[in-house]
Amino acid sequence: MKIVVTGAAGQIAYSLVPFLCERGIFKSEEKIDLHLVEIPAAMERLDGFVKELEDSAYSTVNSINTHDNIDAAVENADWCLLVGSIPRGIVFQGKEIKERSDLLQINGGIFTEQGKAIGSKAKDNCKVLVVGNPANTNALIGYHNANNANQSWMAMTMLDALRAKAQLSMKLDCHVDDIYRLAVFGNHSPTMFPDLENTIVNGQNAYEQINDHSWVEDKFLPKIQKRGAEIIEARGASSASSAARAACDTVKAVEHPTRSGDVFNAAIMSDGSYDIPAGIFSGFPLLSDGNGKIEIVRDFSLSEFAKSKIAITANELLEEKDLVKDLI
Ligand code: NAD
Ligand code: LMR
Repeated sequence: MKIVVTGAAGQIAYSLVPFLCERGIFKSEEKIDLHLVEIPAAMERLDGFVKELEDSAYSTVNSINTHDNIDAAVENADWCLLVGSIPRGIVFQGKEIKERSDLLQINGGIFTEQGKAIGSKAKDNCKVLVVGNPANTNALIGYHNANNANQSWMAMTMLDALRAKAQLSMKLDCHVDDIYRLAVFGNHSPTMFPDLENTIVNGQNAYEQINDHSWVEDKFLPKIQKRGAEIIEARGASSASSAARAACDTVKAVEHPTRSGDVFNAAIMSDGSYDIPAGIFSGFPLLSDGNGKIEIVRDFSLSEFAKSKIAITANELLEEKDLVKDLI
């Protein structure tokens, strides 16, 4: 199994790579060949991380390789985890980066080059997870530049779903594992829509158990939508440990069949389901068969409230698409 991680000397990768090396993440029993990619200026830092990975003596790992060139790194790759990019919450070229969409022009270019390399050099059944922000539209750029319909491109919304599960478990005093069918629709941005109306907790509808629409609309929704900013404010840096956990959970969710009665979360190319226009990467409730097939779960019933929120986030994705039309 050849696993590529970009941004490998960054914060997220420092947690993500060790998570990926634990047993049971990949379905295949094959050992992992890690291919860690960085920009030339960060190669020395990456070498330090590699020494730590070597010292961890993972029994799952066959080799650890480093690259400052994406083309060589992705040759025959089974998975590409595209983390490498600039986070918000910093000053870049004299301008404060406030929203993830402010990163479009800065990070977009990274994904044209990486998309082209993955499309032509990685395996045809390669799975690609875009973590770098703005993740949905970066995935759109990468997907178009890859131009390889057999590969499976996703953007990460798992972190939003985990955040929603954590808040819901506190509200209903249940364990996160008791929560089924929680889906995040739309963009990984403050417009995202985490739906509770189709969520099941201990066999009962979560929204009905909460029985308080104002909590859902005025407390829960903004909490999940703005959680990334809340963490940047508190930590002075964007979420890393939880983002790594979510990226690893996404890999595991794709590699193994979804548990019965549940869904998993990622953004994939819309086919028009739930009136989300085709041609944008949107969060959906998904099912994996554990053999590389991922499909949208289509039986969620959406209230007028849910539909109005989903329309807002879908429109934002259309606007972002328009901003990068020269890159796709
Ligand atoms: P970081 O700055 O700590 O690390 C990013 C690394 O990427 C750096 O080491 C940098 O040198 C490297 N890099 C930049 N351009 C590259 C390129 N072209 N090829 C390879 N490597 C490159 O940032 P981080 O905290 O690890 O966050 C990475 C990205 O993930 C950011 O865009 C952040 O906003 C995003 N993020 C997304 C989610 C999500 O839920 N989708 C959650 C958290 C963070
Ligand atoms: C997050 O949701 O924590 C990340 O997307 C980082 C950010 O910019 O909020």
